Amino acid sequence: MSAAGERRVRVGLGARSYDVVIGSGLLGRAGALLAPLLDAQRRVVVVADATVATLHLDRLRAGLGRNALDVVTVPGGEATKSWAQLEQLVDRLLAMTIDRHTLLVALGGGVIGDLAGFAAAILLRGLDVVQLPTTLLAQVDSSVGGKTGINTAAGKNMVGSFHQPKRVLADIDCLATLPPRELRAGYAEMVKHAAIADRPMFEWFEAQGPAVLAGDAAARAIAVEHSCVTKARIVGADEREGGVRAHLNFGHTFGHALEAETGFGDRLLHGEAVGLGMVLAMRLSERVLGCPADETARLAAHLSASGLPTRLGEIAGGRIDARAAMTHMAVDKKARAGRPSFILARRLGEVCRVDDVDPALVAAVFEAAA
Ligand SMILES: NC(=O)c1ccc[n+]([C@@H]2O[C@H](COP(=O)([O-])OP(=O)(O)OC[C@H]3O[C@@H](n4cnc5c(N)ncnc54)[C@H](O)[C@@H]3O)[C@@H](O)[C@H]2O)c1
Ligand SMILES: [Zn+2]
Repeated sequence: MSAAGERRVRVGLGARSYDVVIGSGLLGRAGALLAPLLDAQRRVVVVADATVATLHLDRLRAGLGRNALDVVTVPGGEATKSWAQLEQLVDRLLAMTIDRHTLLVALGGGVIGDLAGFAAAILLRGLDVVQLPTTLLAQVDSSVGGKTGINTAAGKNMVGSFHQPKRVLADIDCLATLPPRELRAGYAEMVKHAAIADRPMFEWFEAQGPAVLAGDAAARAIAVEHSCVTKARIVGADEREGGVRAHLNFGHTFGHALEAETGFGDRLLHGEAVGLGMVLAMRLSERVLGCPADETARLAAHLSASGLPTRLGEIAGGRIDARAAMTHMAVDKKARAGRPSFILARRLGEVCRVDDVDPALVAAVFEAAA
């Protein structure tokens, strides 16, 4: 930790390595924290979530200390990750006569990070981008690792590219304005990072999770840092998901199926789906890998105590049809030849990829979770 109280996590990718800076008050110190990227001639354009702009843009403006700061706002929410919004954003940025040296700054949650990151990847064959994630999910997951993209009629994140940011500033003060349900959804992804590769961190969450969720700044900084360390280590080892990066999809094969079945909307947030998906993946792990049932119970108890759903019956808006949910798995982006692949656990903190799972076992797991 530095004198100013911020924590730094390095994402090691050779010439494309960068720091994730984590702490309080970072937006207000953005000029100093981004100094190596901000020479006087460099144009900076902020692409901001409209909601986040009303709450946090003034602090960023003051922190950057620039007279002429261009800001483009886009609506928040998943619908923004579309061809139409990408086209609009790209056209608006080009109309500002940006050049190859322009720095894009993405201020918002995962939606803005993915959209602005993808715009940066394709504008003028590639602009530098800095990520300023403002949701917990974006701070521990989407802003780190360089995946960018949009959704299409065929599904989520079907068009995109790898485009690593030059730096990430995760200002935990932004989390103060985040709706509690969004906070809990991001918390599920932090628990995921612990569950795949950091058992001591899972135990830490069991003890300190309530403090993290209640807003304890020190606990939040530790939690975000540890989560980013795990993500950075995995991305550093396997940037393009040829191997170990797939472990980050723990809970996601089930989770995506549930999101698809509930319409990718307010009924079930992504992080909530991942939490539920992890519980289902643990049940499948019991059957396929002999993972002890106690481990499943322990994960479910922690998620439930954290205010996250762990049974299908807790999803608002009616019963989930397990068979219909299963059909979404075959078209999952990560499926091969129509067979979904699963990340399964031997125990909490130790996972592996399993490709050939008997669909009858998957169906049994769904039925048992009703
Ligand atoms: N690129 C990746 O590696 C990766 C990884 C995981 C998820 N994702 C993507 O991230 C997206 C989800 O991200 P998200 O959960 O951050 O959603 P989001 O960006 O839609 O933000 C959630 C909501 O919170 C609001 N908001 C954001 N910050 C706020 C703040 N500080 N205070 C008050 N309100 C705030 C937004 O306006 C929005 O309504 C999905 O599209 C998902 O596919 C990408
Ligand atoms: Zn996720």
